[in-house]
Amino acid sequence: MELQLDYHTALAWLEWQVELGADEAIGESPVDRFSAPEPVGAAASPVAAPVVKADEVDPVVEARLAAKRADSLEALRAEMEAFPHCDLRRGARSFVFSDGNPAARLMIVGEAPGRDEDIQGKPFVGRAGQLLDRMFDAIGMGRAHSDAAQALYITNILPWRPPQNRDPSPAEMAMMLPFVTRHIELAAPEIVVLMGNISCDGLLGRRGITRLRGQWQEVQGRPALPMFHPAYLLRQPAKKRETWADLLALKARLAR
Ligand code: URA
Ligand code: URA
Repeated sequence: MELQLDYHTALAWLEWQVELGADEAIGESPVDRFSAPEPVGAAASPVAAPVVKADEVDPVVEARLAAKRADSLEALRAEMEAFPHCDLRRGARSFVFSDGNPAARLMIVGEAPGRDEDIQGKPFVGRAGQLLDRMFDAIGMGRAHSDAAQALYITNILPWRPPQNRDPSPAEMAMMLPFVTRHIELAAPEIVVLMGNISCDGLLGRRGITRLRGQWQEVQGRPALPMFHPAYLLRQPAKKRETWADLLALKARLAR
């Protein structure tokens, strides 16, 4: 974990190191800078800049504390937006929190913003999102509905777009997960939909969407249904048959 230091703190550190006799910016072990890959998003530097390790800051613990502090969705949004430990925030254009009606009986948890979501600052607005809207429209539900029974509330495991839409790393997932679970607690939906593998991984600790889809699970004491991600359905349209069955199962469960 690298810390961003302000000028005075950095100077104090440097003075302390000089006190200790440090006169060269050199590490414990040699680094071959000709073969080392360039760090993403950082300008190459010819000098070995002293890196301040802050191992005492555990981002998962920080995330849990921040999530716990939030006693409303608005407070949670603010805590997440200000959370400094996830590097994805630096590469993303927007912070993407949620869309739809927070009073909805159904909450959808997706993966992470893609390009369109990063531009618009809303989840599921690109091609996959348009398919998601058509899917739920087919059972009379949508994010614009004011009636909680027909409404959708939508969020993602990650609020920032990963570069090139790569899968989130285990560390990124672990530090953002306390916010997702708090998000579910605060929105308090009756049913949760886990869209795709990343969402199942985060909230069930399991992957294998092909087996999981359509099988009711439990997330924080609520029924949760894993479904194929609409981005997957765009590539595998034949799987829409299973998705239709899942949508009908959702509708039946909501009618109980
Ligand atoms: N895919 C997701 O999982 N979430 C989005 O918001 C957009 C695409
Ligand atoms: N992989 C995913 O992550 N989600 C799906 O729905 C299908 C494949």
